[in-house]
Amino acid sequence: MSIPAVSPPPESVATAIRGMATALAPRLVEIRRHIHGFPELSGQEWQTSAYVAGVLSSCGLVVREAVGKTGVLADLGTADTPLLAVRADLDALPIQEMTDWEYRSRIPGVMHACGHDVHTTVALGTAMVLAALEFPLPGRVRFIFQPAEETAQGARWMIADGALAEVVAILGLHVWPLLPGGTIGIRYGALTAAADELDLTILGESGHGARPHEAIDAVWIAAQVINHLQQAISRTQNPLRPVVLTIGKIQGGRAPNVIADQVRLFGTVRSLHPETRAQLPQWIENIVKHTCATYQARYTLDYKTGVPGVHNDPELTQLVEQAARAVWGNERVQILTEPSLGAEDFALYCEQVPGTMFRLGTGIAGQPYYSLHHPKFMVDETAILTGVVTMAQSVWNFWQQNMAQSS
Ligand code: NI
Repeated sequence: MSIPAVSPPPESVATAIRGMATALAPRLVEIRRHIHGFPELSGQEWQTSAYVAGVLSSCGLVVREAVGKTGVLADLGTADTPLLAVRADLDALPIQEMTDWEYRSRIPGVMHACGHDVHTTVALGTAMVLAALEFPLPGRVRFIFQPAEETAQGARWMIADGALAEVVAILGLHVWPLLPGGTIGIRYGALTAAADELDLTILGESGHGARPHEAIDAVWIAAQVINHLQQAISRTQNPLRPVVLTIGKIQGGRAPNVIADQVRLFGTVRSLHPETRAQLPQWIENIVKHTCATYQARYTLDYKTGVPGVHNDPELTQLVEQAARAVWGNERVQILTEPSLGAEDFALYCEQVPGTMFRLGTGIAGQPYYSLHHPKFMVDETAILTGVVTMAQSVWNFWQQNMAQSS
């Protein structure tokens, strides 16, 4: 690796990053509002990615488009190093926005209700700041703008298309309305849950609603299966290793006076520990099998493995924590004591390389709290500056530390 003869004093770099980001902040708010106004659904982020590619090209980054369908990759830096990746997601949700902001979504039924507009803007801002710094970055960075996070497909597509080639570590962030705007949430260990899917069909035998003894009632057996699963969690799963099973959709039956021959159940299964997750398909099948057998029903069960949980790498997490504390002071950095049972396909990158994701506080003082995916979800836009400075400083420190180790 080629090492710059003299590295700039850390304070000068920090001051330059913060100064540059502060100067760019109004432009970044404009960018975020533009992306927010024209949201696109998962896998259809054509306009968003073209816009992102345009901003990156104008900053002199080497940009590749149509990676992983509608994703964008952009590399920065000339040092002779592998790549540190910064990841953002581009997609919005099928939600009708119900806020009054003048920059609210102009696309009916589509809304950036998970803050991916902010993630994209922070990654763009980080690229703009690092590209404009007077000090040469002591390493290379790849910005990954992925599609289709909400459908847990995009990271898969990007990885299949080579997004992680030469990448040795990856950083990401997610907005978090429970934290006040401008704060950073750091989580060691599990950040999000593994999310698998269940598609179960109970097969009974139809009959007259007045003659249950001559039929096999799939509706009633489905009710038993649901009850057994929920009760078994509380009695046979370690309460310190959470499992959440939600049957979110159920369909079956033909008429009020006809006993149902078929009921189909769709569910999501969340867990935090890989060992727990590994035994869940068999555990669920056993309960389904024995409940159905007791009442002479048959079943088909399709257990779909989804994304694993995000487990933050300890060293990278410490890197981000230290960068955030140095820039913002201890009062604006919180160590999060609890993970979320939400899912995040950032986990797929972390299966390949060490990674960490931090929370960017976006709660607005004096405004009601609306969760992610709520039609009134809103963010404190000053958090964009907080995110950009934290990310840019973390990238810089990553290469600074690696250079120190290799020299
Ligand atoms: Ni999200």
